[in-house]
Amino acid sequence: MSQVVRFSVSVEDDLLKRFDRFCEQEQFATRSEAVRQLIHDRLTTQAWERGTHEVAGTLTLVYDHHRTQLGERLAQLQHDHTDLIVATTHVHLTHDVCLEVIILRGAAERLQHIAAQLKGLKGIFKGQLVMATTHAE
Ligand code: NI
Repeated sequence: MSQVVRFSVSVEDDLLKRFDRFCEQEQFATRSEAVRQLIHDRLTTQAWERGTHEVAGTLTLVYDHHRTQLGERLAQLQHDHTDLIVATTHVHLTHDVCLEVIILRGAAERLQHIAAQLKGLKGIFKGQLVMATTHAE
């Protein structure tokens, strides 16, 4: 069993008030218990997101289709990763704005990488990747 270590953390008082409200709402016995669990959750999520195991995911993009070359860049990146991209749905939201939902499947770290490239293009208003395991846990 690992040894318990004490450490102190400096935070702004308003952030601490919000954290205390969070601890109360989530019914944590102590701040330490809440911090321990948050650290654990975040590290687990990070390890999972960066792994090589297969996942399925959706990448939602909202963008301005008038932006020069954005459509071409989006298409090019997707054509470069046909092994990861299962399907793409495009909806014309308004005269200017498009919504695209890209369904992906492959190694988690590769999905993260292509999603970061697509989200980072100029003219993207919103980009969010959601990943799920491809098997029941
Ligand atoms: Ni459109």
